[in-house]
Amino acid sequence: MQGMTDPASDAIIELAGISRTFGGGADRVVAIDGVDLRVGRGEFVTLVGPSGCGKSTLFNIAAGLADADPGGEIRFGGQRHAGRDLLGRVSFMPQRDLLLPWRRVIDNAILALEVEGMRRAEARAKALAMMPEFGLAGFERHYPHQLSGGMRQRVALIRTFLFERDLMLLDEPFGALDALTRTMMQRWLLDVWQRHRRSILFITHDVDEAIFLGDRVVVMTARPGRIKMDVAVDLPRPRPAHVATSADFLRIKSTLLDAIEEESMKSFTMAGH
Ligand SMILES: Nc1ncnc2c1ncn2[C@@H]1O[C@H](COP(=O)(O)OP(=O)(O)OP(=O)(O)O)[C@@H](O)[C@H]1O
Ligand SMILES: [Mg+2]
Repeated sequence: MQGMTDPASDAIIELAGISRTFGGGADRVVAIDGVDLRVGRGEFVTLVGPSGCGKSTLFNIAAGLADADPGGEIRFGGQRHAGRDLLGRVSFMPQRDLLLPWRRVIDNAILALEVEGMRRAEARAKALAMMPEFGLAGFERHYPHQLSGGMRQRVALIRTFLFERDLMLLDEPFGALDALTRTMMQRWLLDVWQRHRRSILFITHDVDEAIFLGDRVVVMTARPGRIKMDVAVDLPRPRPAHVATSADFLRIKSTLLDAIEEESMKSFTMAGH
């Protein structure tokens, strides 16, 4: 193989034919069905799709937290992986923040670093330095129940970020943030991504956010989730806020909204079946 150019080698992760079925008998749910998805190195890919179409399921598989049904293939950094051994190779922010209630903000933030064996003082110093950027300065010693939903989400984001991996999977990381904080965090994330060139796969329900952040926007179908559409966002970077009013942006948005609406209608007519 050496010397051969493998067109896939510049992908950080490639999923091919990934399916996942839950339960059996009358409770059987095919969450995702034959998903092919590729994220290039340094690429920022956003993923949208109706609620319940299997986005989080796909992330759990890509993070090594859950197995796919037999038959699919996952390649990470060009090498074939059996789902679970991806655990620890990607940084992953789950949809629910999963903060430990008995740990202070600072100690929730350093969880992954501690698990990796970093000394607590060193890990704390790293996390502490990030608090102001996340609007959490002064809250280091608070417990999660003393924070707002948006603040909790930002603690989870620091934790994900401190776990430095080439691929970050972010499952609606800004979902609980108010519009202003959300805009700030989007800017911050783009800045970080441009400086560190990590690859990002990012789930959102917000089409504007998907376009504003992404190099590509991938749309999933209603359950069973498949890839419906993969749209390149050819807007130059850095993108100013007013890019959202440009003709190119609106053209992409209109294509995406049509596709998403079609799938959301399907998932509603399907509900209850
Ligand atoms: N552990 C599980 N056991 C049984 N069914 C599950 C499990 N996890 C997910 N499902 C089912 O798989 C389907 C996809 O769920 P998933 O959480 O991946 O959707 P989603 O696209 O992330 O939705 P949302 O946008 O609402 O977060 C749903 O029908 C859900 O009920
Ligand atoms: Mg989800």
